[in-house]
Amino acid sequence: METRISVDGRITPPGEAVVPALDRGFLYGDSVYEVIWWHRGVLIQRAEHLGRLRRSATHVYMQITLTDEELLAAVDATVEATGATEDEDAYVRLVVTRGTGTLGLAVEPEERHCVVVVVAPANRPDAERWERGLTMIVGHRRRNPRMALDPQAKTGNYLNNVLALHEARLAGVDDAIMLNEAGEVTEATTANVYAIRAGRLLTPGLEAGILEGTTRGRILSLCEAHGLEAGEGVLRRGDLGAADELFVSSSVKGILPVVAVDGQPVARCSRRISLQMQ
Ligand SMILES: Cc1ncc(COP(=O)(O)O)c(C=O)c1O
Repeated sequence: METRISVDGRITPPGEAVVPALDRGFLYGDSVYEVIWWHRGVLIQRAEHLGRLRRSATHVYMQITLTDEELLAAVDATVEATGATEDEDAYVRLVVTRGTGTLGLAVEPEERHCVVVVVAPANRPDAERWERGLTMIVGHRRRNPRMALDPQAKTGNYLNNVLALHEARLAGVDDAIMLNEAGEVTEATTANVYAIRAGRLLTPGLEAGILEGTTRGRILSLCEAHGLEAGEGVLRRGDLGAADELFVSSSVKGILPVVAVDGQPVARCSRRISLQMQ
């Protein structure tokens, strides 16, 4: 398959895809978006992603004027243009910006969205990547406070996460686990975080200031269905070191084990539960 991008319905290769310079998504990160895994010809957890897109819009006072059918038609047309076959996995990014306006921060009453769909080959972790796992730091940079820009809104304003990831890479590791202002674990830069101790899975609650991951929702309900003890709660830095297993989750990457945090190995229990989840 070939990467293709749709900008307001005009589908081109990446080098030809352009958004207007005065688009508020470009100027201010004033957009909402979803990243969805396309697998065996299906958008996985489609309803959950569309629901979250609209909830993100509500967080930023954006009224998306397009229907779900219109958004999905844009995605389908772009997937088709990539030539992807059902045995391929694709990364689908659906972005809705607040569109162009006059220069200045004020939101204008009439929104003229720009809808961008990016479809590319999915960079799914292979067995070797999965086996190697992820090395992390607990980042110095805190997650955006909920009262400033609630991480539950998946907006184009991702500089908080971009900088945390950059700092992790400068430290020579794969990713950062971000704490909130109270020193509680929130999430990784593009994934939710889970700790397992004595057979019990714990993941930070929404109060910590996280994106409510669609994969996280699936994991919690799978745990319930299979009688695994799991819940949401406060995780602190010390809990990471004390965990038998740590892993992260996101739509396109799925589940990946964390093998070290701040240079200390964590996977002592042979990734028993994360392997089952996979
Ligand atoms: C900050 C953040 N947390 C968590 C996730 C995982 O969400 P999902 O499982 O819906 O992909 C993402 C996904 O991009 C993310 O950016």
